Amino acid sequence: MAIDILCKRLIGSAHMAVAYRPRVQGLCRLIVPRLREGDRVLDVGCGVGALAGACMMALPGVRFEGLERAPRGGEAIPVTRLEGDRFPFEDGAFDVVLLADVVHHEARPLELLRECRRVARREVLLKDHWHRSRLQYLRICALDWAANYAAGVRCLYRYGSPESWQALVAGAGFEWRSLESPLRLYHQPFEWIFGGRLHFMAVLGSRRVEGGAEISK
Ligand SMILES: C[S@@+](CC[C@H](N)C(=O)[O-])C[C@H]1O[C@@H](n2cnc3c(N)ncnc32)[C@H](O)[C@@H]1O
Repeated sequence: MAIDILCKRLIGSAHMAVAYRPRVQGLCRLIVPRLREGDRVLDVGCGVGALAGACMMALPGVRFEGLERAPRGGEAIPVTRLEGDRFPFEDGAFDVVLLADVVHHEARPLELLRECRRVARREVLLKDHWHRSRLQYLRICALDWAANYAAGVRCLYRYGSPESWQALVAGAGFEWRSLESPLRLYHQPFEWIFGGRLHFMAVLGSRRVEGGAEISK
């Protein structure tokens, strides 16, 4: 028991210093330009709320709220607990929805993406992992395990390929507005092993069907 607590503290602190803090800064640089003064943003799977907190420091005129399956308590943003699949919000309640490394933790990713689409008025910002080889897959597994071991977040070790993400995103009714990969989120040599092509950031817009023809929202 004591060894388990010690391991969690050591791995959690090492991950925080080497990976988590640089990642928050790197993601903040990608997210902030997509936001506008007065936006209401839902951070789905906000965790400790550090990413939303960093974005709000850069853009004080943007309001962030969190939605979490396992709220930690003490976050810098208001957080609602998610029970079941349906989000407790009206259609189009938020300007932007953020999903940062959440979809690969969800056993029902299609339902999760559909709910994000329903509550997002403008767009959904999706950060996640993908792999094109067994070696890339194993590197993501190691990173995911280290990132979530201390917090006790369940890892499914399912990340998908670029092709399977295309199918998932289209199935949820989205179109890709922009896509960035590789991402530079860490410092070397960590970046060389665990960064780059293992990560992507996409801006997703909703596809609507009107009079039999699909148009972008
Ligand atoms: C790897 S953490 C990411 C935390 C945060 N987004 C960040 O970037 O620091 C994934 C989080 O998503 C949460 N989660 C997983 N599935 C979820 C869902 N369907 N709805 C809301 N939260 C979810 C987990 O409880 C966990 O806290």
